Amino acid sequence: MYAWPPLLAGEASYGPCVDAKTEELRVAHDILAEFYADRLAGALDHMPADRALLSLFCDLTLAARLGTDVVDVGCGTGRLEPYLAARGLSPGGIDLSPEMIRVARRDHPGFGFSVADLRELPYGDASLAGVACWYSLMFLAPSDRPAAFSELARVVKPGGYLVTAFKAGDSQLRRAGHSTGLGVEFDVYWLSPEEVARRVTGAGFATVFWGGRPAQGEEGSPQGYLLAQRS
Ligand SMILES: C[S@@+](CC[C@H](N)C(=O)[O-])C[C@H]1O[C@@H](n2cnc3c(N)ncnc32)[C@H](O)[C@@H]1O
Repeated sequence: MYAWPPLLAGEASYGPCVDAKTEELRVAHDILAEFYADRLAGALDHMPADRALLSLFCDLTLAARLGTDVVDVGCGTGRLEPYLAARGLSPGGIDLSPEMIRVARRDHPGFGFSVADLRELPYGDASLAGVACWYSLMFLAPSDRPAAFSELARVVKPGGYLVTAFKAGDSQLRRAGHSTGLGVEFDVYWLSPEEVARRVTGAGFATVFWGGRPAQGEEGSPQGYLLAQRS
């Protein structure tokens, strides 16, 4: 059984998910942690679509009366936590990267953050009112996606919610990271909104909202959004 907030004892354990691609991703995000902390601090203030969908997630989660415990899956620097908490939820965060978690704890000390892999979440079955996956599902290889979406479904209570944002595209493999100039590179997939909808439905959610918007500013892709309820 797992405790809330997440126990820290398993932080160094990625279980069966350790492989070269996971290690590449983890190392890259360890290096990117301070870069993201600088670059993304306050970014939500300039992203009305992101705020609107996160607010809808908060409102529907509270209305479901399944408790307020939600997890920001692939939380990075933890920038969503104050926003979710200000709207009545009790968010914690998990991330593959220990450096991201270190930065999240430093910058947002009031929240519970743990190192974990979203393919093996450290939570019991149906233990959460919701999960937010903000630009964190785009790194999953196609072969990992069915199990990963099932894992997200496993931890959400029936009637609870999943919300996700992603770079929208054709689901083809790309290499990313080099534009940061920090010497990192890793696999990423700009996900097809149809595939995301199909995956969440296949895992046991019903889509409540999906949408997208064109790229803005320095963004290299359109952005996709999906909100779904656990059946
Ligand atoms: C683009 S960043 C987004 C971070 C944060 N959600 C935000 O919006 O600022 C993607 C994050 O997902 C994390 N991540 C990628 N694959 C993961 C996995 N399998 N399990 C947990 N975290 C993962 C990365 O370490 C990284 O911090």
